[in-house]
Amino acid sequence: MIEQFAKNVDAGLSKAEKTLPSKYFYDKNGDELFVEIMKMPEYYLTRCEMEIFTTQTDELIASFQAHKNDYFELIELGAGDGSKTRTLLEALSKKDYQFDYLPVDISQNALDQLQQSLQRHLPQVSVVPKHGDYFDMLGSVKDSHHPKIVLFLGSNIGNMTDPEASEFLYQLGANLSKGDKLLLGTDLIKPADVVLPAYNDDSGITSSFNINLLHRMNAELGATFDPDGFVHAPEYNENEGIAKSYLLSNKVQSVEIAATGKTYNFQAGEKIHTEISRKYDDQVLAKILAKTDFSISAKFTDKKNYFADYLLNRN
Ligand SMILES: C[S@@+](CC[C@H](N)C(=O)[O-])C[C@H]1O[C@@H](n2cnc3c(N)ncnc32)[C@H](O)[C@@H]1O
Repeated sequence: MIEQFAKNVDAGLSKAEKTLPSKYFYDKNGDELFVEIMKMPEYYLTRCEMEIFTTQTDELIASFQAHKNDYFELIELGAGDGSKTRTLLEALSKKDYQFDYLPVDISQNALDQLQQSLQRHLPQVSVVPKHGDYFDMLGSVKDSHHPKIVLFLGSNIGNMTDPEASEFLYQLGANLSKGDKLLLGTDLIKPADVVLPAYNDDSGITSSFNINLLHRMNAELGATFDPDGFVHAPEYNENEGIAKSYLLSNKVQSVEIAATGKTYNFQAGEKIHTEISRKYDDQVLAKILAKTDFSISAKFTDKKNYFADYLLNRN
């Protein structure tokens, strides 16, 4: 894990336009900060998707077209704290569906917390956590031959570029069977005055979340990042519907990283791209799905039409 982390960091910081992979945000501190982000007044995404899950639970379940007596696997990619999924799990178990819940997450801490919380609140639900990168586990999905419903919520897909999302969904589809379902949570394209504050809250939590990546590299890779030497700098291009987060170096500086054995130089004003948050509409999604085996069979939106959960059918 550490070797992979060091390799990814070196690859990203050696590019002309420096990058760091967003999956490394989620250590214990990052998990806690993300839970705080979800509660922020500016972070509409979680509230909107939660509204869909609480007010349209029966419609969501009906769209799965699962039969009460036929066992299925409910797989969640990047489950996090599973707060929205809990509503669904509760309703499915009340209606006597036969299923196991398989949350996948790169953060062992997030999985442990999720398992403990489900054990307390929904002990009747069978939980089988899977620790790892969801890109790596796509191949193992087809090891079981049971019908599958995959959840990919919270606009996690938005952390991929369009070609990456297309390739990811192609691979996922290739490992599922005809009739399996994917519930895909997407943040919808909307004006900058709504989107940008979600990535630049007044209380500075998103900033701490981004800067935490520097603390993590210092702790785990023996790096010498000065966390005060970088500022959180989000941008949103309304025409493209793409938000990006950067760490901007506020001075000329050099950083050594013991795990890579290298020194990285930063100019004043130079940016490290840490996260992309792509926003969607029907056309963007249709283009991404064009080369995959999925088609859209239903769309659930919140009252403000800020967020959509698309139910995709594996053809
Ligand atoms: C933005 S949070 C969303 C959590 C949850 N799905 C929700 O909608 O609230 C992203 C979650 O995905 C996990 N994650 C990010 N990249 C991952 C990857 N490549 N493989 C597995 N999990 C990943 C993180 O640890 C985190 O728990």
